[in-house]
Amino acid sequence: MATAMLMLGACTTQEGEKQEATTDATENQAAIENIMTRTSIRQYKNQPVEQEKIDIMLKAAMAAPTAVNLQPWHFIVINDKKTIDLLSGQQPTNAPLLIAICGDTDKTTMPDGKSKLPDFWVQDVSAATENLLLAAHAQGLGAVWTGCYPIMERVAETANVLNCPKNIIPLAIVRIGYPDESPEPKNKFKEENISYNKFGGKKE
Ligand SMILES: Cc1cc2nc3c(=O)[nH]c(=O)nc-3n(C[C@H](O)[C@H](O)[C@H](O)COP(=O)(O)O)c2cc1C
Repeated sequence: MATAMLMLGACTTQEGEKQEATTDATENQAAIENIMTRTSIRQYKNQPVEQEKIDIMLKAAMAAPTAVNLQPWHFIVINDKKTIDLLSGQQPTNAPLLIAICGDTDKTTMPDGKSKLPDFWVQDVSAATENLLLAAHAQGLGAVWTGCYPIMERVAETANVLNCPKNIIPLAIVRIGYPDESPEPKNKFKEENISYNKFGGKKE
């Protein structure tokens, strides 16, 4: 998307400018559409996920915002069937691909090199997880977030299977594959969840 906009941005003709405006609107709509149509997918076709698509998901994940731009994360790509089965535990899956999204507490030191940032890594890694889900959906893949942290038993089991050092804390495992089901996205929009200016305040 950004590449397309950059390329169009180089056009100086009137025609080129017009084209840029149209493309921007269409791309904005496509981005919102991608967010609104994502839904958790738990059944997958027996079809591997291409490395190019994995790379794009990882790039999208690492484009997420992080507190003090510390990027306190690590991603473990898992396509080995045995490991997938070991990690799936009580929720078996036929996903051909998992990505474990972990916090890296060694990367939570403030730029002054002294103090540690409090647990913002959880929010940072969650933002990366959502970006990854959206990138999966945008590429025709289905995915579901399965939670590890803060259930410390799950964290320990996952870290053990993946041979993680102490500083690497699995927050989520995203299951990914080509969808073999097509559930409707849930409509979760509720006016009652919104206030204006103060809690309980109404829209003017
Ligand atoms: C923190 C978190 C943990 C989740 N853990 C699981 C899980 O362990 N197993 C699962 O099937 N889905 C899990 N989900 C997926 C949710 O069930 C799903 O996002 C929710 O029902 C809303 O549906 P949607 O993703 O289709 O919008 C988790 C989602 C989040 C955000």
